[in-house]
Amino acid sequence: MKFFVDTANLEQIQEAYDLGILDGVTTNPSLMAKEGIKGQEAIIEHYKKICEIVDGDVSAEVISTDFEGIVKEGEMLAALHPNIVVKVPMIKDGIKAIKYFSGKGIRTNCTLVFSAGQAILAAKAGATYLSPFLGRVDDISWDGVDLIDQIVAIYENYAFNTQVLAASIRNPLHIIKCAEIGADVVTCPLKSILALLNHPLTDNGLAKFLADAEKMK
Ligand code: G3P
Repeated sequence: MKFFVDTANLEQIQEAYDLGILDGVTTNPSLMAKEGIKGQEAIIEHYKKICEIVDGDVSAEVISTDFEGIVKEGEMLAALHPNIVVKVPMIKDGIKAIKYFSGKGIRTNCTLVFSAGQAILAAKAGATYLSPFLGRVDDISWDGVDLIDQIVAIYENYAFNTQVLAASIRNPLHIIKCAEIGADVVTCPLKSILALLNHPLTDNGLAKFLADAEKMK
């Protein structure tokens, strides 16, 4: 399972990279705005900086919602760096654009996915990645993990090449459940990745080892 970090914060991306387990980055307009990035030039520069840190796929999201706009924006983003994956919303023109990009060899991440039906359409159009938002499904009292399970099963039935990128991860259990199901990728806030480290028996055991090591000095 690949680990992506879901942030546009350069320090957090660097920290995840330094941990040695980072396979890529996903961003979205909300995450970019949170970093105070304003204007087209600043957006482009920021994507370039992310690509300099990480040796892996970096999702950059289009903000156009019509076919021509998505294609123009997506081609511009894809030309910035070979690791850029164009993130396209799950809308009718988005699906058309994903099909177009797929024919041109431009990799895509279909975002804002909340149903198995949407997942089938994105795979048929040739999306490289599919981003079902499991945390936001949980937020409305449905089961986000079930959705990931359903999509993974459907993709296996037909050997679709689209990779399931579980997004909107909120906690370490989401990551573990996605691993059990066989999601191809999880994109997580850094804190959820770091939370995987925690276990009280590890802390207690280490404290005891260090105390005993003192006795040998
Ligand atoms: O990048 C898309 C997704 O991961 C957003 O997560 O926490 O805003 O639902 P969240």
